[in-house]
Amino acid sequence: MGGAATSAPPERGLAEAERVELTVDAVAPGGHCVARVDGQVVFVRHALPGERVVAEVTEVHRGFVRADAVTVLHASPDRVEPPCPYAKPGVCGGCDLQHVAPDAQLAWKAAVVREQLVRLGGLGDAELDRLGVRVEALPGGLLGWRSRVRYAVDAADRAGLLKHRSHEVVPIDRCRIAHPAIQQLAVLTPTGARWPTAEAVETVASTGGDVTVAEVRDGVPTPVSGPTEVREVAAGRDWTLPASAFWQVHPAAADTLSAAVLELLDPRPGEVAWDLYGGAGLFAAGLAARVGATGRVTLVEAAPQGVAAARQNLADLPRVEVVSARVETALARRRITGPVDVVVLDPPRSGAAPRSSARWPRPARGRSRTWRATRPPSPATCAPSPTSAGGWPRCAASTCSR
Ligand SMILES: C[S@@+](CC[C@H](N)C(=O)[O-])C[C@H]1O[C@@H](n2cnc3c(N)ncnc32)[C@H](O)[C@@H]1O
Repeated sequence: MGGAATSAPPERGLAEAERVELTVDAVAPGGHCVARVDGQVVFVRHALPGERVVAEVTEVHRGFVRADAVTVLHASPDRVEPPCPYAKPGVCGGCDLQHVAPDAQLAWKAAVVREQLVRLGGLGDAELDRLGVRVEALPGGLLGWRSRVRYAVDAADRAGLLKHRSHEVVPIDRCRIAHPAIQQLAVLTPTGARWPTAEAVETVASTGGDVTVAEVRDGVPTPVSGPTEVREVAAGRDWTLPASAFWQVHPAAADTLSAAVLELLDPRPGEVAWDLYGGAGLFAAGLAARVGATGRVTLVEAAPQGVAAARQNLADLPRVEVVSARVETALARRRITGPVDVVVLDPPRSGAAPRSSARWPRPARGRSRTWRATRPPSPATCAPSPTSAGGWPRCAASTCSR
């Protein structure tokens, strides 16, 4: 991979595939650390703060480059051998932090959350120190937790996982972070499985004990084995939803996040709540129980499967209205209007529609508060919006993000 490392920084700027020796600085979102070479910002993966590494440039952008640490010259005491043989430069891009010791992973994520609170929330150091940003691990360990895995299929019809920021498929024997029931499925190359008609293979192992495989053709999941609907248990309720509908991927995440939302927003009887990007209604169910018969909950969801799942799973909660629409459209066309007391905003990884918050109704009751999941750090971390008045969420940690 690439040529010899240069320790004298090039003045012309780094080029793709070039190798350079550098000292790694602070952590950044997406499994990167920041480094600087002759003033040029380098986002380095597979590295740890304080390390001296040889990094190979993988992408060049205006103002920054991305690189992989391919040789470690001076290792951090927090460096460990990744438990997965595919978690290294140029191979699977799914996991960001397998080379980081478990406690250091939590500290890493706390640093990223802290940084987001400074950048997005405008908080100062003193306020952050007072709040004490802490990341806690969900129960279940670092491996074998992921309840949904979508494998890509390569030109030889083999299922695998994608390289980092690439459409290139890496055939693997098994994904170590997948739920054990998913690891046992005959889906990957060593089992002889081939997928000539699929562009992807979706697998689910639900908390209700269902295990499913579907192949995706032209964007549509077609069941291969297992039930078409899976059962989940979360937030004190039993759920049934299409296997391909959204659900939190860590088995403990649904309970943890729903409890955090209720603790921090503290919905009260008679209040009006919105669950935007509501999926099957995980948060809406808890909100409805709190606002009671005199309150109201409006869930907005765009995916037809999510809408159907929400209507089915929340049918016993008459104070919940499920609106089938994009959030930005529902706001722009005033399909949902204020006043509103409590807003949960849990968009997909691509983020909330940029202009949607501009159309939010003004709080009418002086106690309006918002809980917003943000995903720059990882799917399993959370942060309040700058307008949040309900307190600060503890952030749940997963071992790595996909
Ligand atoms: C991260 S999931 C959260 C779902 C739910 N809050 C939960 O925790 O189970 C995001 C949801 O937003 C939906 N979605 C994506 N884009 C949307 C949009 N523009 N408007 C409304 N919903 C959208 C997705 O279908 C998905 O169900």
